[in-house]
Amino acid sequence: MSVRAAAAVVAAIGVLVSAGAAGAAAADAEKGRALAEAHCSRCHVVGTYNAFGGANNTASFQMIIRMSDGLERFQTFYARPPHPVFIRIPGIAAWSNAPANAAEISLTLDQVNDIATFARTLEKVPIRRKSNQPRHP
Ligand code: HEC
Repeated sequence: MSVRAAAAVVAAIGVLVSAGAAGAAAADAEKGRALAEAHCSRCHVVGTYNAFGGANNTASFQMIIRMSDGLERFQTFYARPPHPVFIRIPGIAAWSNAPANAAEISLTLDQVNDIATFARTLEKVPIRRKSNQPRHP
């Protein structure tokens, strides 16, 4: 898929997510926190839950949500690499039949919105990890 086509898919899904959010019950940050800690902390630092965890080269949630389009990134993360190969959303077709390259996570769109709502609560959480290591000049 070309980058342009991929962007169109992401934009279309974004519209679907906003439409779903308007119709659905208010998203629940507490549920989102539990989901993120259970599923996303494998690779991401999730707030203060696992300050020294996650995969080293993966952006922390508090870093992503501070981006100007951070909320949109959370609302559409399942369509953004690397997630399409291991996130499953009922009703949204998988990108390919390739086997997942990481343990599969199945979420509903309501749960995606819960996670995005939780992510908004992390805007003020420090990005830097506190460390005892001496600083390099
Ligand atoms: C197997 C590892 C892994 C898991 C599990 C994972 N992610 Fe990610 N995620 C990544 C990597 C790697 C990136 C950075 C991709 C890049 O920069 O190209 C990323 C990027 C993101 C981004 C920014 C995407 C963008 O393109 O702007 C969001 C938002 C995100 N992840 C949300 C989540 C959420 C929510 C979960 C849990 C439901 C989750 N991730 C689980 C590996 C993972």
